[in-house]
Amino acid sequence: MIIRDGTLAARISRSRLAGALMSPRGGVGVEELRGAVEGRTVLITGASYGLGAATARMLADAGATVLMTARTAAALAEVAGGRGHCYPADLSDPAAVGELAARVLAEHGPPDVVVSNAGKSIRRTLAASRFHDFQRTMAVNYLGPVRLLLDLLPAMRARGSGHLVNVSTIGVQVPPGPRWAAYQASKSAFDVFFRSAALEAAADGITATSVYMGLIRTRMSAPTASLANAPGQSADEAAGVLARAIARRPAKISPWWADLAELGAAVSRRPWEAAVRWRPRR
Ligand SMILES: NC(=O)c1ccc[n+]([C@@H]2O[C@H](COP(=O)([O-])OP(=O)(O)OC[C@H]3O[C@@H](n4cnc5c(N)ncnc54)[C@H](OP(=O)(O)O)[C@@H]3O)[C@@H](O)[C@H]2O)c1
Repeated sequence: MIIRDGTLAARISRSRLAGALMSPRGGVGVEELRGAVEGRTVLITGASYGLGAATARMLADAGATVLMTARTAAALAEVAGGRGHCYPADLSDPAAVGELAARVLAEHGPPDVVVSNAGKSIRRTLAASRFHDFQRTMAVNYLGPVRLLLDLLPAMRARGSGHLVNVSTIGVQVPPGPRWAAYQASKSAFDVFFRSAALEAAADGITATSVYMGLIRTRMSAPTASLANAPGQSADEAAGVLARAIARRPAKISPWWADLAELGAAVSRRPWEAAVRWRPRR
């Protein structure tokens, strides 16, 4: 349902209170975050825009040595503002990811925290989709971050410490929606990889947090008109959720209702699918 702009319902839905209610909880104090990251190295993928950029700024303010990667070198440099280390790279290119990991390890050693944040979203009907849409979402949302972790983990394991954060989406907790096949499947693939990897990494002293984000108002969500008035968070508010992931290291952070939706999905698959099938096929 699209809530029309300007209506009272739209104003309530867009309010910070509604956003806070529907989004994962963030918020750790400045000193707590500083205690967790000061003098530590944090590698953030997708740090040129949106959530990654907000997180990079927040962590630099807290005294972390921030290692930032994304494709757009100029945007990375602007976000860094002289405080971060920029590693322009295309996550969908396995050779480039290999070089990125090698440079990071050579120049800084194994990172203390790795935030897998870079992402590519596509919302498109199957009728309008090309195979390429599935290849590039899998390349950026799954294979790229898998390759990066495979290359970084041996050194982190050898050191016996570290923390991994996956910026996932509530889209992997709720049942699949029409038009989200490419995005939801690729985010689900990395979610499963990450949770499995976390079980193994724990034996080597490495912790991991899966963060299931709700709507974040960034250039990723901006083109989706139906989300314009949905409750969500700003990039800075969502960065506060990642601050909690980094400072407290829980296994999982998600909105309170997403766990209920996941539970409900297990028993309500048929009614859900019947409800969304009414949509016109075009
Ligand atoms: N926005 C939402 O509503 C929402 C909701 C749930 C979860 N999330 C997740 O939150 C994360 C951040 O999204 P966002 O909203 O901040 O989106 P965004 O503003 O579009 O930022 C995405 C970041 O990923 C980088 N990226 C994209 N393709 C890349 C590639 N091939 N190689 C390297 N970096 C690449 C982009 O940098 P370059 O273009 O410079 O490469 C950019 O820094 C994503 O994982 C997304 O799935 C977002």
